[in-house]
Amino acid sequence: MVNEQRVGQGGTGPGVISPDGSPIELYLQAEARGEDQLINAAIAPRSSILELGCGTGRITRPLVALGHQVLAVDESADMVAQITETETLCSTIEDLRLDRRFDLVLMMSYLINVPDDEARQRLLDTCAWHVKPDGLVLLQQHDRQSFAQPVVREREHRRLEVSDVEQLPGDRQAATMTHTVGDQSWSQRILVQNLSEAQLVGALRASGLELMDYLTPDRGWIRARPA
Ligand SMILES: C[S@@+](CC[C@H](N)C(=O)[O-])C[C@H]1O[C@@H](n2cnc3c(N)ncnc32)[C@H](O)[C@@H]1O
Repeated sequence: MVNEQRVGQGGTGPGVISPDGSPIELYLQAEARGEDQLINAAIAPRSSILELGCGTGRITRPLVALGHQVLAVDESADMVAQITETETLCSTIEDLRLDRRFDLVLMMSYLINVPDDEARQRLLDTCAWHVKPDGLVLLQQHDRQSFAQPVVREREHRRLEVSDVEQLPGDRQAATMTHTVGDQSWSQRILVQNLSEAQLVGALRASGLELMDYLTPDRGWIRARPA
């Protein structure tokens, strides 16, 4: 199934592919690239964390190892099945309404850039529902520069090709990302809605959240709290 409102719009390659097109085998081989340390520096020790769209636990595992209590949520049962180190739940983010609140609600991987305003609002409503009154919401947003033009990046034995780049009306971008590791290759078509700060503030406010600041100079990491 491909849900038209997902950031990922379908993927191909070996192994199981999640509904948004994310390849499980690729994510299983991937490691954190400093995101865990960035998140850890923004929260108190032993925080309770609701991680939305956790995938195979690439960031979950390091956060648990750092002493945090993580509930990892993903709509793909195959993804969450890979996580044995902490509590997990298979659910769409939009439909999640737990009777629990968390010090941190984490929604990374550009899910906020879903190209549908209503879908984005539902994601943010879930973030707002689950954050404690004095808690934080951390969101990771897409960097338009990464889809500015076709590019190939190589690091150790991994290769990432960004191709078929399209600049679309309404500040949307689309590109095909092809990851190659050894002799295995996965392609995923990605469609994103870039957000101006005014759009971001408006979307947060509509869910009862307010923008605090950005964790990184490129504004890729957004810190918000209950308004
Ligand atoms: C690109 S992967 C990234 C996984 C993880 N955040 C990471 O950085 O390694 C995105 C994940 O979000 C999940 N996902 C996307 N949209 C979702 C939704 N609306 N509800 C629940 N899970 C979703 C996908 O199944 C996938 O596992």
